[in-house]
Amino acid sequence: MNDTTTHTAEADDRNDSLMIYVDGRIVPKDQAVVSVYDSGFMLGDGMWEGMRLYDGEWAFFDAHMDRLYDSCKAVKLEIGKTREEIRAILDETAAANGMTGDAHCRLMVTRGRKAKPFQHPSLSKWGPTIVAIIEHSVPAKALAKGLRLASVPQVRGLPHSQDPKFNSHSKLNCIIACLQAEEAGADEGLMLDPHGFVNTTNACNFFIVRKGEVWTSTGDYCMNGVTRANVVKVCREAGIPVFEKNFSLYEAYSADEAFLTGTFGAQTPVAEIDGRTIGDGSRPVTQRIRELYKDLVARTVADQKAAR
Ligand SMILES: Cc1ncc(COP(=O)(O)O)c(C=O)c1O
Repeated sequence: MNDTTTHTAEADDRNDSLMIYVDGRIVPKDQAVVSVYDSGFMLGDGMWEGMRLYDGEWAFFDAHMDRLYDSCKAVKLEIGKTREEIRAILDETAAANGMTGDAHCRLMVTRGRKAKPFQHPSLSKWGPTIVAIIEHSVPAKALAKGLRLASVPQVRGLPHSQDPKFNSHSKLNCIIACLQAEEAGADEGLMLDPHGFVNTTNACNFFIVRKGEVWTSTGDYCMNGVTRANVVKVCREAGIPVFEKNFSLYEAYSADEAFLTGTFGAQTPVAEIDGRTIGDGSRPVTQRIRELYKDLVARTVADQKAAR
C-alpha cells in the first residue's frame, strides 16, 4: 500500500494517547470502543463528518451540520442532540486533548446497538451511537508535490441506488475505487459518472484548470463537499471563471492544473492522471485558490467566534 494518500498527516506521537468521545464519555483511546452489535460496525448504517479546528473553531460548522442533519433525516436516523450540543461535544473533546488548532475530527453517528445481528433498522434499539475522534493533524508536506490519480472502473452511483451525497459509514464503493487505483500504482482513484464523465475521486472532489478557467463536475454524482462549495464560492468572489460542467478524461489529461478538495487537505495538487503529467508543475491558479481559501477560513472562523 502507498504511504502517501490524500489523508496523510505528519507523524505525531500524541495521537497514540488521545482522549475520544464515545456516547457521553470522554475516554482514553484504548478504552474507546463500541459494541460488535453496533449498526455502524455491522452494516455501515451511520453518517459521519470530517471537520477541522482552526483557532478554537470548527471551520464551516454550520455547513457540516447541514449535511449531517440532512443525511440523517433522509435515513430516519435520529441524532437526538441539537447542533449546539454536538458543538459542545467537539469542544470538550478538543479541550480534553489540549487542542485549539491543527486538529481533525471524525464525528460519527450510527443507528446504535442492535438487538440481533440482522439488517432491519427496527432492530437498532439503543441508539444513536455518537463518537468523536479528534487527531492532531497537519497535512504531510509530501502532498505538495502532487498526487498520482488513476481512472478506475468503479463508477459513482445513481441517486436512486445509494445517493453518493450520503457521507455514510458504508464507503465500499469508494474503497473499491481506491483499491483499483492502488492496483494501477496510483495514490487515489479518479471516478467517472454513469455516462463516462469525470466526476470525483474516491475520497475528495476533483477540479481541473484549463486556460485560466476552473472546472469541476456538475455535482450530480459526487459528495456535496463543503470544500468544493467553498472553492466555487472563492472563485466567484475573486472573479475567477468557474464552471460545474461535464468533461471527460480527454480534458482532464490535457489540463494545465488539477487539484482535489477536502476538509483535510483543503486543495491538494494532482501531479499525474493515468501516467500523463498534468501541466508544467507551476500551478498558479491552484496556488491562488489556496490563498483565497485560507482567507475564507480565517474570515469564517472570526465570524463564528464573534457569533458565540
Ligand atoms: C467521497 C468524498 N468526496 C469528497 C469529500 C470531501 O468533502 P468535504 O470537502 O466536505 O470534506 C469527502 C469527505 O467526506 C468524501 O468522502
